[in-house]
Parts: sequence; structure tokens; C-alpha cells
Amino acid sequence: MERVGDMVQLALKGGKPVRDKPFPKWPVFDDRELEALKKVLESGVWGIGGQYVKQLEEKFAAYQHAKYGVAVTSGTTALEISLRACGIGCGSEVITTPYTFMATATAILYVNAIPVFVDIEPDTFNIDPCRIEEAITEKTRAILPVHIGGRPANMDEIMRIAEKHDLCVVEDACQAWGAEWKGRRTGSFGDFGCFSFQSSKNITSGEGGIIVTSNQELYVKAWSLHNCGRLPQGAWYEHYLPGVNYRMTEFQAALLLAQLERLDEHTRRRMENASYLNSKLSKIDGLKPLKDDERITRHAWHLYIFRYDPEAFGGASKAVFSEAMKAEGIPVSVGYSRPLYKEPYLEYFKKCPLSCPYYGSSMDYSKLSLPVAEKACYAEGLWLPQNVLLGSKEDMDDIIAAFEKVKRNVEELGSTSL
Ligand SMILES: Cc1ncc(COP(=O)(O)O)c(C=O)c1O
Repeated sequence: MERVGDMVQLALKGGKPVRDKPFPKWPVFDDRELEALKKVLESGVWGIGGQYVKQLEEKFAAYQHAKYGVAVTSGTTALEISLRACGIGCGSEVITTPYTFMATATAILYVNAIPVFVDIEPDTFNIDPCRIEEAITEKTRAILPVHIGGRPANMDEIMRIAEKHDLCVVEDACQAWGAEWKGRRTGSFGDFGCFSFQSSKNITSGEGGIIVTSNQELYVKAWSLHNCGRLPQGAWYEHYLPGVNYRMTEFQAALLLAQLERLDEHTRRRMENASYLNSKLSKIDGLKPLKDDERITRHAWHLYIFRYDPEAFGGASKAVFSEAMKAEGIPVSVGYSRPLYKEPYLEYFKKCPLSCPYYGSSMDYSKLSLPVAEKACYAEGLWLPQNVLLGSKEDMDDIIAAFEKVKRNVEELGSTSL
């Protein structure tokens, strides 16, 4: 499409958008969810003691190639319980990534441990294993990698380093249901794997989460911590660990069992569309898909993250580009727009645990600068949400057409600032 006289082309400036149809709606449900919810309602067992939570724990753990599952209230609580069950607490440092949702670090701080942020790989946005060993101190107790967007982190290297230094591994797989590294599913490599079922997730019950593990002793600890410190075969009023009520309801579990039936087909569709987008996107100067390591045998594609080069778009910021794409009818978002260590909420933890006497040291993030993560947040990283990848090939062609249109009319972005 050529520019016509002085008429504006970009929808951001008043031109006609590439697309005015919505992408597939999320969440997806049918009679299976309705029936499941009705059954729970009519059973009269809506919480503790029902069958659905138990079934979900068994099915989901097996789905992720693990032995045990503990269904909980959220991905955040899954991470918190896992760290606590590993004995992570006051005085412990936990190595993690700054390119993630805040909950990854919050969970570490909630058990009074210290997040130590390590930079990410420029081409995957996952934690860079080459940077982990230099961050290890005598206080390091665990590594908490995130499989960001559903793309597995390099678990060969992470597990090698963890074994060498005798560290626990808690995988934040909150965006990575069914993803695989060398045929093995995320969450099954570390001591624990943690998943979220919050509303935006590829399998959802509105809120919710699950912990998986193959270690029986750790399973019992996690189970106890999510259920008021009780033991699986113990009495109701005996409390052995400092647990609280982090239990999932039967409604959530029944919904998730129905959602799980659809997950493989949805994953197949997302992978097919993402691979199509990758092939087209790599031909547009200034846009680049992230790299898929050949050891990744299955990708969850919770987010389609790609790299944007402002220089190739006349210096327009990623926020301006995202607005231009949204105006064309394509929901491109800026995603994480600052690394986690820049978040103001960390101030809340300044005294404890960040400079707690038990730590015997003090963590000050104000001088921390991790260049790859900062570039990803400030300049490069853009996202499409997972529901878009459930669309048709024509839907993907609209996305590409909008990218090409913005590129062709880049001078219209010119003075736009946000
Ligand atoms: C990477 C990551 N970790 C943890 C969480 C926390 O999950 P939840 O919102 O279920 O607490 C999320 C959720 O967005 C996430 O994306």
C-alpha cells in the first residue's frame, strides 16, 4: 500500500486501521466447564476434602513429568511455599532474573530472603547461565529461573551449576505449562516447579496455582505449608510447620481439569502460529523474533515476545510503536517496562530483609545496572498475548500487515512521544 497524497495512513494519526475484528476471546470454555462447576455445586463439597483437587494434583503433576502436585491459591503462593519448603529464609540469597513479573521476587522477599538479580540473555530474555556463577556467594541457597513467556530457560546449565554448588532450584514455570527442554517438561528439573492459573494464563481458573515435585519429603513439606502445617495423614488440630491456608477450591480444580483437556490442542495451535509469525517477522527490518534453542522441544507461548529496534523505526520508542500497533487493531504491549530491581516496592523491604542483621550484609539495588535487561525493558521487548496465537492464519497475516504498514509509514510516527 503506497502513501496517497498527503493523507495519513497510520491509524494512530487518523488513518484506517488494518483490522477492526477482535482476536479470539480468552478464557475459552464450553459445556465441560459448565458441567464440572455444576457437579461441584451440587456435591456440597466446595473446599477441603473433595475429589477434584486431588485429581488435578495427580493429573497436572504427571502432565509436567513430576510425581506430586500441591494445588494452591496462586503462582505467587506456589513460589513462596516452595522456597520455604527448601529451607530458604533469613540470610539466604536467591539468584533470579529481573525480566519477570514482580511475584518472582516478592516470593523471595516474603520468606525473608534476598533476591540477587542476574542479567538475561539478549536473544531469549531468560536468565543468562553464564552470569550465574559470578553471583554466587557463601549465602546463596537457591536459583529461581523463570521460563519467560513459556520459553524454557537453559536447564542443562542451570542444573549443572546448582549441582556443582549444592543449591536448590525452584522453577518459576508460571508461564510455561507443558513446555519442554529436551523432551522433559518444565517444573520437573528443579526441586520444585511452580505454575499459575490466573486469568490471563493459558489454562485458568480465574486465580490459582500448583506446585510440582518428585521429591517425597519436599512434597510433604509443601503440602503441610499449604494446609495450616498439618500432615497428609495427620490430625486436624496438629500443626507441625508454619503453614497457612493456601488451599485451592473444588470449583477451581474442576474448571482446571476441563481446561487441561484443551491445553494440548491450544499449545499446538500457538506453536504453529508463533512459528509462522517468526518466519515473517524476521524479514522486517527492525523486528526480530527471540531465539528458540534447538533443545526446546515444546514451547508454551504464553507471550509472543519479540525485539524492536527503535533505530529502524526513525527513533520511535517501543511505547510509540506499541500504540501505533494497537491503533491498527493489534494488541502489542510494552510488557515489563523496567527491570524488577527498579521497582519502587523494594523500598518496603529496605530494612528487613535487605539489611537485616540475620543477613549480615546489605543489599542495595540503587546502583545495580544489568544492561541486557535494561535494554529489553526500555527499548526492545514487545509482546503479543497468548489468545492472539489461537487465531487463524489470516489473523497472523493481519499482524504482519500491520507491522509492515507501520514500517512503511514510519515518518508519521515522527514527533509522537509518550
Ligand atoms: C513469571 C510469573 N511468576 C509468578 C506469577 C504469579 O502468579 P499469580 O498471579 O498466580 O500469583 C506470574 C503471574 O503473572 C508470572 O507471570
